[in-house]
Amino acid sequence: MIKSKGGLMGLVTVLLVFAVIAGSCAVLGVAPSEVTGPRPFGFPGDWSKISPKTVTLLYPGQASWEFLTSAGHPGAQAIDAGCRTCHTGQEKMLGAKLVKSGPREADPIAGKAPTVDLTVRAAYDAEFVYFQFRWPTQAPHAIHTVWRYDGKQWVAWGGPKPDATKKGMPPSYEDRLAVLLDEPNNVPAFDGSPATFSQVGCWMTCHNSMRAMPRDVSRKAIEPHPYWGQKGRRVGDIRKYLMISRTARDDAGAWDKVKPVADLNGLKATGKFLDLWQWRAARSNAVGYASDDWVLEYRNSDAGRSPFFNPPKPQFMYDEKVTGFRAIPEAELQARMGQAALIEKKTAVALDPNAKFAVGDLLPQYLLRDPQGSAADVQAFGRYVDGHWTVELRRKMNTGQADDKVLRPGRAYPIGFAIFDDTVSNRRHYVTLPLTLGVGVDGDVRAVKVGP
Ligand code: HEC
Repeated sequence: MIKSKGGLMGLVTVLLVFAVIAGSCAVLGVAPSEVTGPRPFGFPGDWSKISPKTVTLLYPGQASWEFLTSAGHPGAQAIDAGCRTCHTGQEKMLGAKLVKSGPREADPIAGKAPTVDLTVRAAYDAEFVYFQFRWPTQAPHAIHTVWRYDGKQWVAWGGPKPDATKKGMPPSYEDRLAVLLDEPNNVPAFDGSPATFSQVGCWMTCHNSMRAMPRDVSRKAIEPHPYWGQKGRRVGDIRKYLMISRTARDDAGAWDKVKPVADLNGLKATGKFLDLWQWRAARSNAVGYASDDWVLEYRNSDAGRSPFFNPPKPQFMYDEKVTGFRAIPEAELQARMGQAALIEKKTAVALDPNAKFAVGDLLPQYLLRDPQGSAADVQAFGRYVDGHWTVELRRKMNTGQADDKVLRPGRAYPIGFAIFDDTVSNRRHYVTLPLTLGVGVDGDVRAVKVGP
């Protein structure tokens, strides 16, 4: 049994993160066959007795909400009926079409698979809901963007495919699993729309203006905007949002037409937002959490302290006394994958200005820490072995927080899943058509009662 509090947990975290690699033979440049995060909670049932549901996730290209409701999509007129009315069983066909160069993909990734099969099990007890996810991926990516020492200074390095590859850098970007959740027939696709998250799922959050989408808004265009720009929230790009947060609709997805803050607050207070959990192989797994977010006018983080942060310049290095190294030589990036978590007060120390580094030494840009407050609601245990990630999540059925959705036995909730693999970001994930999670009742995924 691992205690979930205090010093013992901290020690266990460090030991677990490193124990796995110590036992494996770290061959230069070859990804480890196993990566394991700490196990922050026990499961009160037996996963092998809970029947799995396998869902096929497809590569969506740039099929935005604006495209799906345009004349270019044959289903636009009947979209309120829901995607599954027409597309059930078509995930492989759609993925194969969209992953290739075409009207929905101007910049394909060579060799990208069109779909991925995700196996899901779910359970609940008096206090918590539990998920177990399992999916295949050729190599684990448990490191995110990095700094590289060029002999004189540290420069930003790595990043997702295909951007990094084009800049002549080896890609480095974390694997990720996302869960998007609502109450039944709750959040409409836009003001006055009869279609809700139940019918159209994650697709209603995807707009042309978002990064890497056809009408990606530049930083320069964002800067003068009163809500998003320098005098407002100072965002660098536009991320997932709901049209109900906008005063109008247009082909760009009305990124700039944000409702007054009082209206946004009103929407949030009445539950008109989506709950988003993101398990991150680099930026949350090594501290035993998923990040907890919510979507309304933007992809917002839950209140409190998130499990990761990134200082604008390199300020930390590995604590050699704990890890045996100060930085990762670039030729060993793959081999040290499971050792790469830079954790505040555990594996990280302040960057020593007198320490010697070699050309090509790498340091993660992101630091991990124990999250706090509502941002610490989703605990996670992720393990890569036998060519698969297996990720368990646990969250309270009712967290009591204003930025979370409550789950109750006897109801079926609309839900969507996404997987990011092979060093990709933003739209280059695999996604589901709309699904349901039945809590003790029928659903695409049925959460089964366990424990007392
Ligand atoms: C009334 C039926 C209908 C509904 C509802 C519908 N679609 Fe479609 N959709 C179609 C048809 C027909 C095609 C063309 C299929 C083909 O090319 O073989 C299509 C094509 C697509 C494509 C491929 C676009 C391309 O560029 O090739 C995507 C992606 C898609 N639909 C997603 C969705 C999603 C997501 C929803 C729900 C938000 C949805 N559809 C709702 C009928 C529908």
